Amino acid sequence: MDAARIDMTGKVNITEKLDSFDDLWSPKVIGELNGQYVKLVKCKGEYVWHKHDDEDEMFLVVKGRLRVCLREGDVELAEGEFVIVPRGVEHKPVADQECHMLLFEPATTRNTGDVVNARTIEPEDLERI
Ligand code: NI
Repeated sequence: MDAARIDMTGKVNITEKLDSFDDLWSPKVIGELNGQYVKLVKCKGEYVWHKHDDEDEMFLVVKGRLRVCLREGDVELAEGEFVIVPRGVEHKPVADQECHMLLFEPATTRNTGDVVNARTIEPEDLERI
């Protein structure tokens, strides 16, 4: 990431960042460290089953509730809770109501993993806010 585009030493207010966009299932980069991105995403409804062969993925719920469906069962997350989905593990996020999440994962992570569909955003095309 171009260091000029995000102030690495600046304070980041998650609420203000979330107030700055409305689109769903479109992660925004709000920070980068050690080859990892910190992202925010708003979601509502069902995502697609997918996996990431090379990346572990952390989902932290900032607002609302999220169900992370796994083949062995669902993980229900409330505000302030997170789960780490290990690489290679199939998952499908579902939000019955609008949910706001913080994602922490390698910068190489494609949002739809091994699936390419209308919601796919390649890592190099992610919006920085
Ligand atoms: Ni994923």
